[in-house]
Amino acid sequence: MSVLSNFTKKKADNFAGKSKVMIAITGANGHLGKATIQFLLQKVAPTDIVAIIRNPETVNEFKEKGVTTKQADYNDFNTLKEVFKGIETVLQISTIGVDIETAKQQEKNVVNAIVENNVKHIVYTSIVQARPNTIFQGTETQYHTEELIKETKIPYTFFRNSMYMEAIPELIGNVFQTNEIRYPSGSGKVSFVSRTDIAEAIANVLTENTHQNQTYEITGNKAYTFGELAKLLSAEMKHIDIADTTFREELIGYQMPVDVVDLLVSMANGIKVGEFSYTSDTLEKLLGRKPLDLNKYVKSL
Ligand SMILES: NC(=O)c1ccc[n+]([C@@H]2O[C@H](COP(=O)([O-])OP(=O)(O)OC[C@H]3O[C@@H](n4cnc5c(N)ncnc54)[C@H](OP(=O)(O)O)[C@@H]3O)[C@@H](O)[C@H]2O)c1
Repeated sequence: MSVLSNFTKKKADNFAGKSKVMIAITGANGHLGKATIQFLLQKVAPTDIVAIIRNPETVNEFKEKGVTTKQADYNDFNTLKEVFKGIETVLQISTIGVDIETAKQQEKNVVNAIVENNVKHIVYTSIVQARPNTIFQGTETQYHTEELIKETKIPYTFFRNSMYMEAIPELIGNVFQTNEIRYPSGSGKVSFVSRTDIAEAIANVLTENTHQNQTYEITGNKAYTFGELAKLLSAEMKHIDIADTTFREELIGYQMPVDVVDLLVSMANGIKVGEFSYTSDTLEKLLGRKPLDLNKYVKSL
């Protein structure tokens, strides 16, 4: 027996006697998917986890952990309906929704494939305070998917995630050169939340029986304006609340496709009106400890 299969067998033996529930994770090779699998491996045998990936080139890192991989694309219902065979619990990780109609169809394909396979519990990653008619365009897809999942009558848990702390560097760019965050968010606040904490909480929910038909608002304990974020980054840092037309021109100047620019401008406008400001202590309850605080996170940048 190879070192690897020996290791996998030992891990599986550790979980012998525990009731076996097959858990599938879509978007498994993304940041949230990978982190969730890391936490799940502390709770269940690797052989109980199915990582669903689009790109077969990413198979090896899961194989090394003893996790099964299956290949499917959100655009292809025929691949999706095969990968949920024998699965009881699915973590459906939301798609990147630049084109809203495509994104809605991708998520519908996943939900329809889940329905065909007698799945018992869907955990879906949605967005904080998901509701119709928001300024941020991305919310439309995730609210639509929540409604589709509810219609299936399969027990669900919605993780309505606020903005990831880990997305801050991408959102504000290389601000340390200029000491300016140029972002049209006014005095709108964001309840930034650690993606790693979300992954740990999802792993808890996937392995517990008490979360059926729950909608969880997953946020940091406090919301911050971009002016407050600037001060956390450094005493010299300033938030410059540029006009959204200026922001749009700057993004187009980086050769960004217009639909991505529209999405990013809608996100800033959504922040400005408070669409990401909601706070809740649900994450703390799911983790059984305080979530990572923004102040601590920015010190690691
Ligand atoms: N709350 C926030 O601040 C925030 C920020 C960004 C995104 N999100 C949402 O949260 C989700 C998870 O976040 P993350 O950080 O893990 O994102 P990520 O690292 O970009 O991972 C996204 C995952 O979705 C997969 N995917 C995309 N299109 C697919 C398709 N057509 N078929 C199959 N798989 C597909 C990707 O596969 P490939 O590697 O093959 O592309 C990847 O595994 C995102 O997808 C997005 O909906 C939330």
